[in-house]
Formats: sequence, C-alpha cells, structure tokens
Amino acid sequence: MCELYSKQDTLALRGKHIGPSCKVFFAADPIKIVRAQGQYMFDEKGDRYLDCINNVAHEVVKAALKQMELLNTNSRFLHDNIVEYARRLSATLPEKLSVCYFTNSGSEANDLALRLARQFRGHQDVITLDHAYHGHLSSLIEISPYKFRKGKDVKEEFVHVAPTPDTYRGKYREDHADPAMAYADEVKEIIEAAHSSGRKIAAFIAESMQSCGGQIIPPAGYFQKVAEHVHRAGGVFIADEVQVGFGRVGKYFWSFQMHGEDFVPDIVTMGKPMGNGHPMACVVTTKEIAEAFNSSGMEYFNTYGGNPVSCAVGLAVLNIIENENLQENAVQVGNYLTELLNKQKAKHPMIGDIRGIGLFIGIDLVKDREKRTPATAEAQHVIYKMKENQVLLSADGPHRNVLKIKPPMCFTEEDAEFMVDQLDRILTVLEEIMQVKTESVTSEGMPCKTKVPKEEHVEFLGGRSIESTESPSKKRNGLCSDQRALPSKRLKT
Ligand SMILES: Cc1ncc(COP(=O)(O)O)c(C=O)c1O
Repeated sequence: MCELYSKQDTLALRGKHIGPSCKVFFAADPIKIVRAQGQYMFDEKGDRYLDCINNVAHEVVKAALKQMELLNTNSRFLHDNIVEYARRLSATLPEKLSVCYFTNSGSEANDLALRLARQFRGHQDVITLDHAYHGHLSSLIEISPYKFRKGKDVKEEFVHVAPTPDTYRGKYREDHADPAMAYADEVKEIIEAAHSSGRKIAAFIAESMQSCGGQIIPPAGYFQKVAEHVHRAGGVFIADEVQVGFGRVGKYFWSFQMHGEDFVPDIVTMGKPMGNGHPMACVVTTKEIAEAFNSSGMEYFNTYGGNPVSCAVGLAVLNIIENENLQENAVQVGNYLTELLNKQKAKHPMIGDIRGIGLFIGIDLVKDREKRTPATAEAQHVIYKMKENQVLLSADGPHRNVLKIKPPMCFTEEDAEFMVDQLDRILTVLEEIMQVKTESVTSEGMPCKTKVPKEEHVEFLGGRSIESTESPSKKRNGLCSDQRALPSKRLKT
C-alpha cells in the first residue's frame, strides 16, 4: 500500500504539524484513505468504503499528465486550453453568462464574485442566507453565518442575514400558502431597512440548494422574486454552485436552472467537482458586469487560475460527464435512491424528511416527527456506524442532524441499495434503543423525550454495541408516532 507512515504515526504527525482547526472526518476514529476508484475509497488495509459524500469523481489523470508533460504556465500567455474550456463551459450556461474568470478554489471564486458585484454599481452590502457557507477567506467568513455564528466573529454591518427558505424547519413551512413569497418578502424587508439607514445592496448570494445548511431546496419561485427585489435595489444575484453544479441534479447542468428559464443569476461561482479533485474554480458573469469590473482599471491576475493543466483537466471532466451520461445516471440513480429512502421513511419514525434532487439528497433525522426535534447525537451515531459498515456519510445542517448524500456521479443502483440496507439496519437498532430509553424516562413521569448526550456518538449508547442491543419491542409511544410529515410545496424536476 502507498503509505509512508503507519496510521498512528500519520495521526501523530498531523497533530504536530497541521493546524488544530483543520478537522478530519470521524474525529473520534479517523479514517486513512490511500487510494480511490470511482465511488469507492480504500484505506491503508485495503478495506473498501462506499463514498456517499465526495463530489464528482471522474477519470482525468491522463489529461492532466499529458498536459503536464508539455507545459504548465500562467494565463498571461495565449493558450488554447483556457479559451476552449471557457467556450465549452459557457455553452452549459444561459447565453448572457459568457465571461469567465478562473481561480483555484471555490473561496477565491466567491471572493472575486463579491468584488465584481461591488464594482458594478459601487454598492457594498451583501444579503446572505442563514446557515450559509461560502468559503474560508475573511471576506467569506463575514458572509457565512454557518461560520461566524460559531466563532468569535461578529456580524458586520454591511452583512444582512435572510432566513433560509427551508419549508421543513424554517420560518415558513409547507403548510404556508406561499412560502416562496413569504421568504422573498423577508429579503425585501431587509433591503428596505438597509435603504432607510442609508446603505446600498451590492449582492444577494445563495447556493442554488443550500448544502452545509442542511440540504435545503428553496421553494419554486423564490429566486425569481428575490432577484426582482435585489435588481430593483441595484444589486446583483450571485448563485454559488460550488457544491451543487456540474450535473449533480441530473436534469440540469446547473442547479439554479431547476428554478425555470425565467431565472438567470448575474454571477455564478463554481469549483469542487469542476476539476475532479484538481484545484480549479471559476466565476462566470455577464459582459456588462465584466466591463464594469474592467473599468476600475485594476488588472485581474491569478498565477494558477486557468492554467493549461487545470483547463485540460476541466475539459476531461466535461467530456466524461457527457460521454458517460452522468447526468442521466444522476436522474436514474437519484430517483431510485430517493424512492428507497422514502420507503425507509415509512418504516422509521426517526426519518423526518427526505429531500433532494438527483444525487443531492438530505435525510433529516428527528427524535419526534411531530415536533421535528433534530436528532443530533443520533445522527453522529449513525454516521459512525455507517462507517463501520463501509459507508462514508456526513451529518450537517444547523443542528448537525441531516445526513448529507452527494456521492460521486458514477454512483450505481447497487451502491444505493447497499447504502440504504446499512442505514435500515442501523436505524432499526437505534430506534429500539431509543424506545427503551424513552420508556424508562416516561415511566418516571417525565415528558416523552429521548435522553441522549449531545454530539458524541460514542457516549450515545453508553458503550453498548449496536449489535448487542436488539430488542423485540417495536411499539412506539405517542410522541414518537409514525405520523407522516405534511406534503411540501417544493420544486419538481
Ligand atoms: C457552497 C460552497 N461555496 C464555497 C466553498 C469554498 O470552496 P473551497 O473550499 O474550494 O474554497 C464551499 C466549500 O465547501 C462550499 O461548500
């Protein structure tokens, strides 16, 4: 195996030389990955894991090697790769989005998008969604409530936080007559309040589907209405497609396209799957915004952004998405997986909501379906147990109770079945344990609540192994009823 150090030494060296804020997956029992192929990752012992959390994985090594043998340099020299890639990329987008700026990471792309937006009309303020994450640069931590709410940073005056358009746990839910309008009105009110204190809106930024925020799909019509308000205020609409772009939703290449042809953002940022693990990212915008940026007189130069090797890699990724019909695969496997998960929802009261499109799916785990109480500790427990069963998943969202599924786009129906079988087994045992706990709590005259310590899965079972805690009882108490969630008004593809 391709190891320099034993797992223990790797851990020790990481502890000594890598910043302690750089977290690893499964911190209580980290996993060492030495190679990967398609949707499978292999640890140092050769054990295979099904990858349900990484973005697109495509075969691009040959393209990179070929170009590296020839030349890699910066984008101040004329080269065909950058123009060919920009041409191919623009062809996937609506016509008015035709000007590209290349960067090396999603964070750089969002930072540049903010500069473009601010230069456009000279406005400064930014409206962002609650729980959003847009990158690790200082300029992006400022507009990422997911981060600044956790750290010691305070919200800057020029940042305005709008409620996440979450129809499952948000302010306006699926039983509201028009959640899209209600959430968009919140943005309108923010703009009015900013104006009344003399501030001007440069941009509204949102992921087309919020990922770290808990796999949220905004209600149909929301983005159109928000764009209207923002444009009227002289601002621009930035769609962050860093996680959700490049065909993941299946039917469309870009997630914002699900909202209809009458919605076109002014700026789109992209990254992650763009280079299949190779660091490349991009900002695409309109001629008008690009010209305003140019009029400042300041040159945009990025040593590695758009270099010949990155663009060769990017072209290979586009070819593979097309040649291997990965968008169709995302539709087919995504629908099949959603169907399997909905069957699990009918069986497991802990599954409060299944939401998703294509290969972007969230499983919202709850302790109580009616109250939608987030099952935070349980979700941590589930991802560790899934890992023991060779499936890699993560839990995210403001309560860290949403299992995030965004596997490589070559994910198959067999992979979906394997993943769901493991989840079924783990939830079955977990629900039995929870019921035991619930019953012991209610018998003491307490409210019907499961008693689990927060965060640490290891504490959750009090050291008991899941395999040794089978209980014959499947009876549910009143509060943890199997009542189905209300149907929600969501985007249909
Ligand atoms: C939605 C979104 N935007 C931007 C970024 C930042 O991208 P990067 O980590 O490549 O800088 C991320 C990274 O997780 C992201 O999820």
